Amino acid sequence: MKAVAVFPSERRFGVIDHPEPQIASPTQVRLRMLDVGICGTDKEIVAFDYGTPPPGSPYLVIGHESLGEVIETGAAVTRFKPGDLAVPTVRRPCDVPSCIACREGRQDFCYSGCFTERGINGLHGFMAEFVVEEECYLNPVPPALRDVGVLVEPLTIAEKGIAQLWQVQQRLPWAEAGRNSHRAVVLGGGPVGLLGAMKLVREGFDTTVYSRTPAASDLQDLVTAFGAKFVHAESANPAQLAEIVGNIDVVYEAVGASSLAFEVMPYLGTNGVFIFTGVPGRKGPISVDTDTIMRDYVLKNQVIFGTVNASFQSFADSIADLGVFLERWPAAVHSLITGRFPIDQAADPLSGEVGGIKNVIAIGK
Ligand code: BGC
Ligand code: ZN
Repeated sequence: MKAVAVFPSERRFGVIDHPEPQIASPTQVRLRMLDVGICGTDKEIVAFDYGTPPPGSPYLVIGHESLGEVIETGAAVTRFKPGDLAVPTVRRPCDVPSCIACREGRQDFCYSGCFTERGINGLHGFMAEFVVEEECYLNPVPPALRDVGVLVEPLTIAEKGIAQLWQVQQRLPWAEAGRNSHRAVVLGGGPVGLLGAMKLVREGFDTTVYSRTPAASDLQDLVTAFGAKFVHAESANPAQLAEIVGNIDVVYEAVGASSLAFEVMPYLGTNGVFIFTGVPGRKGPISVDTDTIMRDYVLKNQVIFGTVNASFQSFADSIADLGVFLERWPAAVHSLITGRFPIDQAADPLSGEVGGIKNVIAIGK
């Protein structure tokens, strides 16, 4: 079957002929892949900056944001039948007995660092015609999400991040009554930022997307269509942004570039929370005013945290919320997917030459 793979030691990637996986235990499910999304992580992997093939393999089949259709189930599978749609999780637990996170099924909080990730780290991914997966790692997706289900995985980042935000803000005595202040700034107008902004709007935040993207007029229309505001970094510096927004209760970083994040950090409001989701490439040190940042953490009760990957609960929340987004803002949700490419043309969007928000490899119909 066809699959897209990277050969890190030969510094090449492309479509290969990969053995078609077969069900090998009663708890497994075979999927025909429909859509596989491309994100910054994939672009880093095909630029040989990230990613590790499975032990003994010269190549890694990439792809971790996916939607598949069940075509065959092992005898012990109970939650899926042929024809159902499913999105697999990405991370698999380590086997270190003392890792309480993985032992409790929370490999997104793995302590040992010995976890694997399909399509990224030690396991082949989903950018292939067929995939076999254990039932326990699959999340059922309703048929209404056929066209946009590939956005489930990137939305899980916001789901996990914002669930933790609420946990942190339980520290405010008035939180229980829902009387928290609700002003959020999203850094970045890519898929993670826009899905995060939709989630924040849904949670009742007065949400502003702050972006550096040069051709921002379409982006502005898209952002306002789902009820958020848009501020372009060219027309307002971070201090002006803070004046426009007021006390910034939440910054949701989704730019993957540390410079913009640290420029905005001094404007995080009192009792505010700064959430990092990006994995920046190493662009060299920048100078930041650490005294001011440390003073603010303390004198303004601020919390800064990073969040990666996601739990099964976050996948379930993502699937439910995507359905809500689709009902409320159908055109905006569809417009997040800006390109669909056949697998033979996967190199074009992967090499970063194609613009747009979310590009998808449409493997099956
Ligand atoms: C994926 C996560 C993964 C992270 C780090 C992201 O693109 O969505 O599942 O944990 O990369 O490898
Ligand atoms: Zn990703």
